[in-house]
Amino acid sequence: MKDFKILTGDSLAILPTLEPESVQCTVTSPPYWGLRDYDHPAQIGAESSPEDYVNNLVRIFREVRRALRVDGTLWLNVGDGYARNGGTGGHGPNAIVGNTRRLIQRRNCKVPDCWGLKDRDLMGLPWRVAFALQADGWILRSRITWIKKTAMPESVKNRPTSATEEVFLFAKSTNYLYNPEALREPSGANLRNYWILGPESNGNGHPAAFPRELARRCILLGSYAGDLILDPFGGSGTTGIAANELGRRAVLIEINPEYARIGEKRATTFQPQLHLS
Ligand SMILES: C[S@@+](CC[C@H](N)C(=O)[O-])C[C@H]1O[C@@H](n2cnc3c(N)ncnc32)[C@H](O)[C@@H]1O
Repeated sequence: MKDFKILTGDSLAILPTLEPESVQCTVTSPPYWGLRDYDHPAQIGAESSPEDYVNNLVRIFREVRRALRVDGTLWLNVGDGYARNGGTGGHGPNAIVGNTRRLIQRRNCKVPDCWGLKDRDLMGLPWRVAFALQADGWILRSRITWIKKTAMPESVKNRPTSATEEVFLFAKSTNYLYNPEALREPSGANLRNYWILGPESNGNGHPAAFPRELARRCILLGSYAGDLILDPFGGSGTTGIAANELGRRAVLIEINPEYARIGEKRATTFQPQLHLS
């Protein structure tokens, strides 16, 4: 096994090929529903309803659970969005952003016919995903609030600007690996469940990369050196880079070959000694 492998393809097809109970810790951020187009027919996030989105994530994370060791964990960052009628602004959760295709936006310009949603309702997607995973067998252990030092600007005047996202900690069993000594508050107290993180200063060509520090924290808390880390929505490879920097091995899955290439390039820049397959 190489230190850092990026498998290009659909997670739903590739995850079943991973060895059962081989992964210690999964750190990931799936596409948010209806926001960006990742240019693949099997992409997550382009479902015609948010219910299908939740169901697809349950199927994917069921395969992740199979690949996790019995004491393994899943650290899941999911974003929210608003139900809108014709709502596509220049900023915000449902905004037209850099690589967004109109097709997705058009599809989601109508309030989805589920959950009693009304125009302008916050959909509460992170918690809907969390509850669905809980119902599917995961143990939901923590909700960490990622507070963004630099929030995406929103031109709203009727609510506060969104500047937080959820990171959920799930366990496969009650006796799971969590190393509280790996990361503590500056006072020495047990780590709190709010993390104030800035964006990465260097753009890496991916529109939705999470900060390396976010991945680093999850990996430190959920694994030891030498363990295998998984990211089924690999993007530009942030999880793999953080894992290697901490002496862990990593396997990433990414459906868009362009982003997989960015991940390999970043890995070479951060870790020149890596051998990529
Ligand atoms: C929010 S981004 C992840 C960004 C990543 N955390 C980073 O720091 O670069 C989600 C990624 O999932 C990929 N993706 C979408 N559907 C997928 C699928 N079915 N299987 C694998 N990857 C998928 C997208 O192409 C996108 O790069």
